[in-house]
Amino acid sequence: MTLLLHVLMLFLLSGGSAKVVRNFEHECGQFFANGKSPTTFTGPQYRQICQTRNDVAYFATYYDTYNRIPVYSAYKFEGLKHCTRLNEWYIEPQLDDNEAGLNMAFQKNVRYCGERQALNGDYVKSGFHKGHLAPVYHAESQDCADATFTLTNAAPQNSSFNQGQWRKVEEMLAKDIEFKCQIQHVYIVTGVVPGKKFLPDEKVKRVNVPSHFWTAFCCLDHKNRCSHSGGVIGTNDKNSFIVGMTVAFLERRLQNLYRTTTFRVFQ
Ligand SMILES: *[C@@H]1O[C@H](CO)[C@@H](O)[C@H](O)[C@H]1NC(C)=O
Repeated sequence: MTLLLHVLMLFLLSGGSAKVVRNFEHECGQFFANGKSPTTFTGPQYRQICQTRNDVAYFATYYDTYNRIPVYSAYKFEGLKHCTRLNEWYIEPQLDDNEAGLNMAFQKNVRYCGERQALNGDYVKSGFHKGHLAPVYHAESQDCADATFTLTNAAPQNSSFNQGQWRKVEEMLAKDIEFKCQIQHVYIVTGVVPGKKFLPDEKVKRVNVPSHFWTAFCCLDHKNRCSHSGGVIGTNDKNSFIVGMTVAFLERRLQNLYRTTTFRVFQ
């Protein structure tokens, strides 16, 4: 009986094999080192998204529909392409409507949305930036850069942190990788840790304001091992103190912050 219920739940949650998928390792495993995603949690609020724009998938996102922010986004780094910024944000129609199409869409073109995801309105006048997880700066093409402008790939980020320390993290990460890895097979995962505050306010708790942003990279060698890797984590404020560390150390920090028994960024 329990098993039957479980199967039924999975079926109901999957909503067909499109962009919000049952198993993103199967549907878009190309964005994960060795096809293995970071840890996923149990709980009905989580969704696996193959971020698809105009029928092409560009990265993967693990999304929390209760906090209405991602847990992490994962992508392959192909070198800096200097793309321009779209500055118009998509949403994910399939999170709120099983019948919706598989592509990210602008809110004005979606008949029903907002129950299980953040909308533009949540950020208005909040003072917080829509902080990218998979960043524009690392995008492998202009189409990919445009695809990063989906609210399911963003979380409220302190504006000074976004323009200051975190921007430097993205720049230094790219430099570090280009120096150490010759951009062969480079995989990056960027995530956030839910905090105590919400947008738009403490009464209407719609969108969680993360306490931390983190990121980690892995360059695979010819034996498919992370020959070079590392991570950083910083608090979501102007005076964030960012430290570089090993992936193992970051994983232990995340294990504590997510209150989980294990958290693996790279399996
Ligand atoms: C950003 O962080 C600083 C402190 O580090 C704070 O003064 C400021 O209000 C924060 N911005 C937002 C939008 O919370």
